[in-house]
Amino acid sequence: KVKKMNIKIKPVKKLIGDITVPGDKSISHRALMIGALALGSTRIKGLPESDDCNYTAKAFRDMGIDIRKESDVTIVDGKGLHGLKKPDNPLYMGNSGTTMRILAGILAGQDFESTLTGDAGISARPMRRVVEPLSMMGVKISAKCDGEYPPLTIVGGEVRPIIYKNLIASAQIKSAILFAGLYSKGTTKVMEPVRSRDHTERMLKYFGAKIKIEAKGVSIKGGSELRARQLKIPGDISSASFFIVAATLLKGSRIKIRDVSINPTRAGILKVLSMMGADIRTVNRKRQAPEPSADIIVKYSRTRGVTINKDMVPSIIDELPVIFVLASLSKGVTVIEGLQELRVKETDRITSMQNGLESMGACFKVEGHNVVIKGVKNLKGAMLKSFGDHRTCMALAVAALAAEGDSEIEGAESVSKSFPEFFDELASITL
Ligand code: S3P
Repeated sequence: KVKKMNIKIKPVKKLIGDITVPGDKSISHRALMIGALALGSTRIKGLPESDDCNYTAKAFRDMGIDIRKESDVTIVDGKGLHGLKKPDNPLYMGNSGTTMRILAGILAGQDFESTLTGDAGISARPMRRVVEPLSMMGVKISAKCDGEYPPLTIVGGEVRPIIYKNLIASAQIKSAILFAGLYSKGTTKVMEPVRSRDHTERMLKYFGAKIKIEAKGVSIKGGSELRARQLKIPGDISSASFFIVAATLLKGSRIKIRDVSINPTRAGILKVLSMMGADIRTVNRKRQAPEPSADIIVKYSRTRGVTINKDMVPSIIDELPVIFVLASLSKGVTVIEGLQELRVKETDRITSMQNGLESMGACFKVEGHNVVIKGVKNLKGAMLKSFGDHRTCMALAVAALAAEGDSEIEGAESVSKSFPEFFDELASITL
């Protein structure tokens, strides 16, 4: 059981300095998973010590994969596509939705039965989105409430290739189908309304899978063995975004965040903030496979409201809470369209952010699936709630830094999901 923690936040003058953020959570899950399914030892530099990645590592250890750390390198002794062993107990995913949904696709191809469980939070998150396509692939998969909620039980084995037209732009669903497709005889194709983050495709390709990215989707050919590789995980742009927005909001700030992932399917925040008039530069760009990265330099700037269309949402899905904060203190009105997916994250992030920002004096309206925020002159410190969600917590912490008067956030332990060092890192650049 994690100890509940409140954190008190005082407004600060500005942020100055150089920092790094933990390795990208999405890329790290894939590195562990694909490393475990490859033949040979995959060496991963920069894997974060956050809760969600630890749950993924634990699940593979429970299936007989040796994962160990030697100084800053994590070594995964992969045993090939068919090297996992049946776990003795249900696999516990904690609060990690990414682990549960993607692992379901991998387990579809194993010749044993397995059950995936998690904490109370994950037990209320929708799973039909993976249960349905995997069932279409011939996998025996069941979940509570007629296929909607965890635990999931999967009887792996024969997998049939499919062509799947997903109505939601979701990398978790896409990845589950691609992994199941890796175990089928034939070619599986996934299409999406807008391309979601493509870390699985990049990493599978890097490890030797036969995968093709086409205009309308991704296809994978089943059966090819994966070969171990060396990886360096770049910093998580979702974690960096809290500092990017904080530096934009606080007069006189200048920060550099080193070696952050700038994968175009993830880096929508850089575009949105530039549109809003923020002063952001990327330098020292590295194009190394499988993921590009750069240092990000941010200086204070007065920002203005913009309209963000629904096609941009997948590339900023995890940054929306902190974008709401910036919009609240920008000149004019910001409209963000098509936010239905934000309601099914670790918490309903429209409600959690509206709750926090309104109590600080923001002008936040929900119109159907859109959010409309009218900038105000200043926010006032308040008693705030994380709703158990790491990103709500860190976004409200940024609002509190830029507010007048002190704030307190209930449930600050939630940051350990992706960024255990968040408050220490923040303190290190605060003036
Ligand atoms: C993730 C995909 C996104 C994102 C989540 C991580 C991933 O979820 O919000 O934090 O690593 O694939 P969806 O696939 O549900 O959009």
